[in-house]
Amino acid sequence: MGVGRAVGIVGTGMSVPERRLTNFDLAQMVDTSDEWIRTRTGIVERRIVRPDQTTSDLATAAAEQALSRADLSPSQVDFVLVATVTPDMIFPSTASLVQHRLGARRAGAADVGVACSGFIYALAMGAQFIATGLYETVLVIGAECMSHLVDWTDRSTCVLFGDGAGAVVLQPVPPGYGLLGIDLGSDGSSADHLKVVDDYPANPQAAKFGRHPYIRMNGNEVFKFAVRIQGEACERVLHRCHLRPAEVDWFIPHQANIRIIDAAAKRLGLPPEKVFVNVHRYGNTSAASIPIALAEADEQGLLRRGDNVLMVGFGAGLTWGAALVRWSQGKEGTGKAYG
Ligand SMILES: CC(C)(COP(=O)(O)OP(=O)(O)OC[C@H]1O[C@@H](n2cnc3c(N)ncnc32)[C@H](O)[C@@H]1OP(=O)(O)O)[C@@H](O)C(=O)NCCC(=O)NCCS
Repeated sequence: MGVGRAVGIVGTGMSVPERRLTNFDLAQMVDTSDEWIRTRTGIVERRIVRPDQTTSDLATAAAEQALSRADLSPSQVDFVLVATVTPDMIFPSTASLVQHRLGARRAGAADVGVACSGFIYALAMGAQFIATGLYETVLVIGAECMSHLVDWTDRSTCVLFGDGAGAVVLQPVPPGYGLLGIDLGSDGSSADHLKVVDDYPANPQAAKFGRHPYIRMNGNEVFKFAVRIQGEACERVLHRCHLRPAEVDWFIPHQANIRIIDAAAKRLGLPPEKVFVNVHRYGNTSAASIPIALAEADEQGLLRRGDNVLMVGFGAGLTWGAALVRWSQGKEGTGKAYG
């Protein structure tokens, strides 16, 4: 990927709250049904934090697992990046809280706020630190408590989101492996389609559930954007990597809606067995969704050394990000001759 050292993912981790909120639970809260949510989104349940749990709790647990799987100690971490739009507080950054709780004493720390595209953005940023030779070990975390931003009276949005965190450890890897291509973008002219507002005087119904900023979304516009941009961004990344879609071993898209995932896979000509899906269990966890999916795929032993892993996300901005990583860990995949 341009100049500099090859940078790869050498450990993955995740953490989700224990509490499950099912579609049937939601049907008790707003005018919806399990059938509507399943058929329109593919979501069956999502995880929701306890009142005393925060984004930094989930992020720290995910990071600890990623470091442990990479066989690294917190003292080896040079930088902590947390992609989040639900920080514990406006400042200090959630990354600083995580850095302290991990005991990563040498590490710098910063948050990245690009909503559901945040993980791919943070991955690209963290990789540059290592590619340039500035750092050796960077933690990239996507962590969200989306339940804090949901208007629980709005059935068109409250059924979609969930809480969780995923983390990866980045380090130098042998040439030919790691992050091979990136495509990041933003169309701020579409900012109004997905945003957080605080207009309680105009929305007394929502105020009953607590006065906090909440998500407002034009679902149809976001849907159309997502279907188009995921295909385009992936095609650009593959082109830059001189790869054909058929050479993608795993497609790990943002888990927002099964229909959006299916449309992207279809456009790229990827069969279902190459597409990792867990949206039914967690809903849309924003910046956490891709690293959670990656951690689950890794834990299940699906990712083999030499596999081409294509990730793509989209979200508020409206923004997007796609990345191609040639997996550098574990056993060699079948029929691979890279490196
Ligand atoms: C939100 C989304 C699932 C809606 O699906 P859809 O098929 O487009 O549904 P529509 O918006 O056309 O709504 C159809 C009807 O269902 C209703 N509806 C909306 N939410 C509902 C719910 N939870 N339960 C039951 N009915 C619901 C609407 O009010 C509408 O009723 P109407 O026709 O009487 O006005 C879909 O647009 C979507 O996934 N968009 C992308 C959202 C996203 O991914 N956001 C995060 C980006 S990171």
